[in-house]
This record gives sequence, structure tokens and C-alpha cells, in this order.
Amino acid sequence: MTRWMSVASATVIATGMCVQHPAWTRAAGADSELLAEAQNFFKPLPQDMATPEFPITPERVDLGRKLFFDPRISADGTVNCARCHQSALYGTDGLAKPHGSHDRLNPRNAPTVLNAALQFKAHWRGDRDDVEDQAKQALVGPPSFGNPDYASAMSKLNSIRGYAEMFRKAFPGDENPITPENWGRAIGAYERTMVTPSRFDLYLAGDPQALTAAEQQGLRTFINIGCPTCHNGPGVGGGTFQKFGVVEDYWTATGSKQVDKGRFDVTHQQADMYVFKVPVLRNVAMTPPYFHDGSVGTLPQAVGIMARVQLGKSLTDEETNQIVAFLHSLTGKLPDNFVNAPVLPASGFETTGSAPTTPQQNQ
Ligand code: HEC
Ligand code: HEC
Repeated sequence: MTRWMSVASATVIATGMCVQHPAWTRAAGADSELLAEAQNFFKPLPQDMATPEFPITPERVDLGRKLFFDPRISADGTVNCARCHQSALYGTDGLAKPHGSHDRLNPRNAPTVLNAALQFKAHWRGDRDDVEDQAKQALVGPPSFGNPDYASAMSKLNSIRGYAEMFRKAFPGDENPITPENWGRAIGAYERTMVTPSRFDLYLAGDPQALTAAEQQGLRTFINIGCPTCHNGPGVGGGTFQKFGVVEDYWTATGSKQVDKGRFDVTHQQADMYVFKVPVLRNVAMTPPYFHDGSVGTLPQAVGIMARVQLGKSLTDEETNQIVAFLHSLTGKLPDNFVNAPVLPASGFETTGSAPTTPQQNQ
């Protein structure tokens, strides 16, 4: 009896160890397997986003940063880039759709400027080539800076004396450096410094401990469900155009009141109906509301809608929470040169006519 008992318990222990050991091995194996899979789909953020065509120089970045924060170049003197791309809101403005000059409403949501220069195109519909093109055209966009033409924007820039010297230094060799293109290049150089590395980058660099167990589980679910088909690369998005609503019409899930035809309105090709640029998911936890029209308020909702309309899958609450936990690990550190606003050249507009009238002269 005693003997049998001891044999039995020995068996239990042995079985227990037998079960435990492979399970433990599997867990460790899965860790490195997950890391290798992740390294296949995603890349760590670069140090900066300069290219041979759009290099970064300290003079350009410094000038571009000032221009980014200067409202005086807009039609009504109230609109700067930072109005809709605020550092306190991770490069967005928290609204479904922002208001620009003369309170004009934008047709789409403002995406973050953080890591934006990683992308193959700019804007939801990809109707801007790069951040330089985007910044240039913002000058004359009616719901943006609202200037009637580039000439009037440039005359505003010219009237703020401090800028002439800065443009000369940022674009040495240009006879007349104050141009819409150089405005775009300077702001673009500044934007190309705006990278926000997070723990996910440490993870991709080979440190599995950089993500919590919950975040790793979320990454596993994100991969298994199929999200990286579209959201991949260093930005976890930003590399392709895709139809929004592969499986069912997006507006049935988002409740969008207006149906935006996406890239179709840019190219007039049937294949581009409801096609949008796949957005970067870096810092996505910090940038609600979601989608091109800001129609969805929370991240769990947005994740559920993506699974449903892009992949035809309905996520359990647990799966949704896992993915959301992973997405939180993409929140990075804000660049110092974005958190702090620069001091702008104080020389304001000069009066064009006679000296300003005094109250006495008015009487
Ligand atoms: C009035 C609000 C507003 C102002 C001012 C504004 N933006 Fe934007 N920005 C937006 C909106 C809205 C979009 C999306 C437009 C679209 O896709 O149709 C956008 C898109 C962008 C994008 C593309 C991001 C991406 O992921 O595709 C960049 C970069 C950007 N803005 C930078 C700037 C810069 C630089 C300035 C100043 C020169 C500026 N913005 C001024 C609202 C604004
Ligand atoms: C077939 C391509 C595709 C797949 C697969 C896909 N997405 Fe998307 N995702 C997109 C596109 C396109 C958008 C932009 C939609 C729009 O116009 O607003 C987007 C938008 C998002 C947004 C909103 C981002 C923002 O800033 O507003 C989140 C969050 C998101 N996706 C997460 C996911 C998750 C999680 C999965 C997997 C469950 C997933 N996506 C699968 C293409 C895809």
C-alpha cells in the first residue's frame, strides 16, 4: 500500500515534470519566435528621417521649427501648424475635424506629425507627395493657412525681418531663398527630426524583456489576426494604400455620417473607391479620435472595427484588450524640440502707409 502510494505519487510528479518541462521550453521558444516574426514585419525607427533629397541641417531644422509655430503667415493671423498638430496631444488636435483660417472646417481628421515623414505619401488620400509638399500646399489651403496665393504668403514672410537671415543661412547659395519650396523644405527638415522611439524599438532591437508579457501576447494576436498585412514597417503603417472596408462598408461600422470616397476623388479610378493610406500606428493610443473622419472615439472600438471590416473577424474582448495593450507600447517619447515652442522673430508687420494715427488725430 505504502509502496503503491509512493509509486503513484512518483508517477504524478514525473508526469507533472514531463508536462511542465516541454511547456516551459515552448514558452521560451515562442518568445524568440515571436521576436523573429516581429522583426520580419516591423523595423525600429531610424534616428531621423532625412533623405538624400531632403537632408537635415541644423539651420533648416531651426528655421522650420520657428515657421511651424508662427501664426503670422496665415490669412487671418491665427493659424500655425501647431494649431492642429499640438505637442500636448501628440501632434494632433483631438478634434474629429479641425478648423483652419476664418474658422473653416477641414474635410478630414488631422493625423499626427510625429514620424509622419516615414510614410510613402502624405494625407489620408495620399494627395501630397511628402512632408515638404504638404507644408508648402498648406500655405494656400483654404481650411488651413488660407492665403489666396503663394505671393501673399511670401510677402508676409518677407515682412517679418528676422526671417531673411535665417532663410539665407538655411539655403546658402539661393539668390532669393524665401520661396514656398524652401518654406516646405525647412518645415520638412524639422518634421524629419520628429521620431518617437518607444519600448517596441528596444524589443525589435533584440531585447524581449522590453515588452511586458501582456504586450507580447497582444503583439502575437496582432500578428495572428493579420493586422501586419497592412500595418508594417518602422511606422507600423504608412507604406501602402488600402481599401477601408474590405469585407463590409466602413460606414456601417464607424457610423460615419458622410461617406468619403477616399482616393477615388483624387484619381477618379474605380479601383481607388474608398481607398486610403494605411496610417502609422506609432503613438496611436495618444491620438484619438480615429479614422480619416475622426468618427470613432476610442482605441478598443477602432481595433474591433478594423478586425471586422478589414479582416472579417470578430474579436473577443480579451483579444481586443491584448491588441490595445500592444498598441500602447508604441507610445514613444516626444521630441524636446516639439514639446517646447521656440521664440519667434519679434519684428512684426510694418505699416505700409503713413505713421499710425494717434487718438488725437482721429478726433
Ligand atoms: C487647420 C488645421 C491644420 C493646419 C493649420 C495644418 N494641418 Fe497638417 N493636417 C491637417 C489635416 C486635417 C490633415 C489631413 C488632411 C487630409 O488627409 O486630407 C493634415 C495632414 C498633415 C500631414 C500628413 C500626415 C499623414 O500622416 O499623412 C502632415 C505631415 C501635416 N499635416 C503637417 C502640417 C504642417 C507642417 C503644417 C503647417 C505648415 C500643417 N500641417 C498645418 C490639419 C492641419
Ligand atoms: C487590409 C488592410 C488593413 C488591415 C488588415 C488592417 N488595417 Fe488598420 N487601417 C487600414 C486603413 C486603410 C486604415 C485607415 C482607414 C481610414 O480611412 O480611416 C486603418 C486604420 C487603422 C486605425 C486607425 C488609426 C488612426 O490613426 O486613425 C487603427 C487603430 C488600425 N487601423 C488598427 C488595425 C488593427 C488592430 C488591425 C488588425 C485587427 C488592422 N488595423 C488591420 C488598413 C488595414
